[in-house]
Amino acid sequence: MMRTVGADHPITLGNLPAKVRKCLTLECPAHYAVLAEDGRRLVGFFRYEYGPNGTLRARGTWVDPKERGRGLAGALWRHVLKSAKPRRVWVKTVSEGGRGLVSALVREFPRIKWTVV
Ligand SMILES: CC(C)(COP(=O)(O)OP(=O)(O)OC[C@H]1O[C@@H](n2cnc3c(N)ncnc32)[C@H](O)[C@@H]1OP(=O)(O)O)[C@@H](O)C(=O)NCCC(=O)NCCS
Repeated sequence: MMRTVGADHPITLGNLPAKVRKCLTLECPAHYAVLAEDGRRLVGFFRYEYGPNGTLRARGTWVDPKERGRGLAGALWRHVLKSAKPRRVWVKTVSEGGRGLVSALVREFPRIKWTVV
């Protein structure tokens, strides 16, 4: 199950469960997040916000270690990119998995102007 939450949700605020903090540090709050849940269990999220000129800024992606490698992070991103249709995306990658994920998305969405740092 995927659902989008706003700036009042603990994930967007940056109040992250311990299992997330083990592998991802997120310093600033975000405006939105799309969550993947299995019942009440959080299995993944993609945090983001909108900037000027049709820019979407990524603010952190995480998938539960047990669920990785099955396309979940890609599905979370795709869900947002297909509905928000940003002209530009800004994303900072902090891991090999993050770099793999973003290069796959860059190939899949060639019309978006990507800034990857
Ligand atoms: C990075 C992360 C979100 C990927 O989640 P995932 O659900 O396993 O990713 P997906 O299965 O959707 O993979 C999407 C693409 O990324 C690639 N990818 C995923 N993990 C990768 C890895 N460790 N190394 C290289 N490529 C990787 C996949 O090959 C896939 O590309 P493809 O569509 O061409 O096959 C997950 O490993 C994670 O939560 N890591 C810890 C937190 C983190 O580092 N977040 C990213 C910060 S930039």
